[in-house]
Amino acid sequence: MRCDTIWKDARLATMVGDGIGVVERGIIAASDGKIVYAGAVDDAPGLDAPRVVDCEGRWITPGLIDCHTHLIHGGDRAAEFEMRLDGASYEQIARTGGGIVSTMRATRAANEAELVASALPRLDALIAEGVTTVEVKSGYGLDRETEICMLRAARRLSSERPVSVATTFLGAHALPPEYAGDADAYVTMLCDEVLPEIAALGLADAVDAFCEGIGFTPPQTERMFSAAARHGLPVKLHAEQLSNLHGAALAAHHGALSADHLEFLDETGIAAMAASGTVATLLPGAYYFVRETRLPPIEALRAAGVPIALATDCNPGTSPLTSLLLVMNMGATLFRLTVAECLAGVTRNAARALGLADRGTLEAGKRCDLAIWDVERPAELVYRMGFNPLHARIWSGQ
Ligand code: NIG
Ligand code: FE
Repeated sequence: MRCDTIWKDARLATMVGDGIGVVERGIIAASDGKIVYAGAVDDAPGLDAPRVVDCEGRWITPGLIDCHTHLIHGGDRAAEFEMRLDGASYEQIARTGGGIVSTMRATRAANEAELVASALPRLDALIAEGVTTVEVKSGYGLDRETEICMLRAARRLSSERPVSVATTFLGAHALPPEYAGDADAYVTMLCDEVLPEIAALGLADAVDAFCEGIGFTPPQTERMFSAAARHGLPVKLHAEQLSNLHGAALAAHHGALSADHLEFLDETGIAAMAASGTVATLLPGAYYFVRETRLPPIEALRAAGVPIALATDCNPGTSPLTSLLLVMNMGATLFRLTVAECLAGVTRNAARALGLADRGTLEAGKRCDLAIWDVERPAELVYRMGFNPLHARIWSGQ
């Protein structure tokens, strides 16, 4: 079989099936950015390529996927971090005009080029650890113009760097001051004016909302979901992060790709997610950074067979984190996930959380997005803290 590139003498974590899908004596062949063979060298068809890369026994995983980020935003919230160190809670700060709304002010003050420029170092940190696909949300503009500007900036990231970007419209993230006391009118404006324009411009791949006491109610969330459906866009939800408003079940009933955070998720929500195939995206960086003590119901999610993804939730307020390797370590240490679950969470299940069936595993037909690691065993990718063993990263065969 003639192809562009062969990576030989590799050990593969194919992530095919339920576990890691280990292949000890592995080889990958790719053509036109797609994998044509990934598996045991002994079972490989005759392969021939102008470029042969000797991996010298290194491990290859699928390129990592960060399926929940707020990478585009103005400013930072280091001052609020100091307030929290002095005892203020995240919710108190949000209710007194800080929080998401303070980042809204900084984001509105920036133009598209500035938003791109400030996000690039964060994106570069992710890329340096083998990330090949990143989801980026809007949600710090909270008006028509700035929400669109954020999504344009997010899309621009993929022309600035060799990385795939999935964009998510999160207009229902917080109530902007112009609509104080009238969240319903704000949601109407989002559904009738902003979302139709964003959909027409092709700027969003999904629609998300923050269903929470300091965010939006379940009925308001449902209106966003119905509007998304009218525009053929899949939905996701920030659900059960600080309290239980039964947002995950609501999201599942709307066929959501994922429900995210989930510390306060209950059995009914888990059953609904299992029935709809909604991915549970866990965000241990936010759990750690706001010093949450309530764990997401991992054992029950596992027992119900709900696929679990892990992501950075990179954002200035609750998770200023740009390391998916550290997220895996936190997933294991804080949430007691296994190594296989952590790896699946940033590959196979993260792809599913974005509705991207063309990536997340190493198998023929998938995109050739690879991370090649200087490790002796896959567990090292989860075990270390603050050490980056990436040897090389391949995006779309390059
Ligand atoms: O995922 N929960 C809502 N959204 C973000 C936090 C946003 C912020 O505080 O700026 C999150 O945790
Ligand atoms: Fe988030």
